[in-house]
Amino acid sequence: MQKRILLCLAHMSGKEMAFIQKAFDDNWVVPLGPNVDGFEKDLEGFVNHCETTALQKRVVALSSGTAAVHLALIACGVKPGDEVMVQSFTFCASAHPVAYLGAVPVFVDSEPDTWNMDPDLLDKAIADRMTKTGRKPKAILPVALYGMPYQIDRILEVAAKYDIPVIEDAAEGFGSRFDGRVLGTFGHYGVLSFNGNKMITTSGGGALICPDDEAGRRILFFATQARESYPYYQHEHIGYNYRMSNICAGIGRGQMTVLEEHIGHHKHIQALYRELLAGTEGVRLHEAPSPRFDSNYWLCTATLSPELRVKGQENAYKEVIKNAVGGAAGVTHLAGSATTDCQPNTNVEALRMALDAANIEARPLWKPMHRQPVYASNPVYVNGVSEKLFKEGICLPSGPWVTDEDVHYIVEQIKKNIVYL
Ligand SMILES: Cc1ncc(COP(=O)(O)O)c(C=O)c1O
Repeated sequence: MQKRILLCLAHMSGKEMAFIQKAFDDNWVVPLGPNVDGFEKDLEGFVNHCETTALQKRVVALSSGTAAVHLALIACGVKPGDEVMVQSFTFCASAHPVAYLGAVPVFVDSEPDTWNMDPDLLDKAIADRMTKTGRKPKAILPVALYGMPYQIDRILEVAAKYDIPVIEDAAEGFGSRFDGRVLGTFGHYGVLSFNGNKMITTSGGGALICPDDEAGRRILFFATQARESYPYYQHEHIGYNYRMSNICAGIGRGQMTVLEEHIGHHKHIQALYRELLAGTEGVRLHEAPSPRFDSNYWLCTATLSPELRVKGQENAYKEVIKNAVGGAAGVTHLAGSATTDCQPNTNVEALRMALDAANIEARPLWKPMHRQPVYASNPVYVNGVSEKLFKEGICLPSGPWVTDEDVHYIVEQIKKNIVYL
């Protein structure tokens, strides 16, 4: 029987257990310790390595990428009622921490080349917010979707024009580079995620790339319940329990030994899809617009032309789906209907179902935040790009477990299910 090919799964190096064992042997089973310090040093070595610019970023290891977004917003002074310019085309964790703070995510659409925040639209949106509210947004949050670098040079120009800090959400883009420099090191803060499906994993975890030691210490303060230096618990600020555990950091140290290998594998899988899908009418692989954008290709993604016919298309959206997208980790509300007012085209859903039946996990692209009911009343600046991509796009298996043979099989199944009239 064909094994199930999953989108992207954790892949161990074999070195993780030694770091974990040492933590147990030394009784460092707490959210601090030698593995946390060692993992941070490894991360700093990686992100600060740049041939053109001397970097001295400080990295703070945290319990999740979501926690990193949250703390970066706090460090940028985001308070209730403030506005933050957030890329609409993203996973909810880019936007939700803005809401945790009682602030308002203002959604900005994407440009078609990288699928990330459109710098021209961002510029117009900020000007409009300032006219409408009389205040400047507190931060700009672009996202490296599927690992693809955003147009960070242009975004930084807009940020400088209005003097607004940039928080880079590089949760999916760990190891992606723009002009040879690692994503997450351009803005004031950079978010990384080490969730189970990311480029490397700590089971769950994340990190915040900070501008310097002082900023790093401040993040650490908020990540450890904001304790003042008294011999008893004295609190003058609200803090969080967001530090990474020494056990998880042990996994991270093992994973850092295979980071380059993982990135190389994702790029190799992308190249194989490129070769095998070449000339397939109506199917377009998402590619970096130029060599300046060095994507880690965390997930390989493609769009299907709306004219393309896929077998079983007439059956798409006929049944209410009973399980959660994104694996079994979440508790999901049962859907009350098989459709919503904004969903992928029927040919995309038919291809997803056909691949599923062939034991291949494929998934729609992220649904833009401005089309999520929970953000229905938020301010939004759109150009139609992300909504069109959501309707036409699909994510294909890309992780370290995906073999060349798997890619051949996946492309064969894609081609087999296209109906050429
Ligand atoms: C774009 C983006 N931002 C933030 C996060 C949050 O990371 P975590 O799952 O580690 O909280 C994720 C992934 O999960 C993500 O894909």
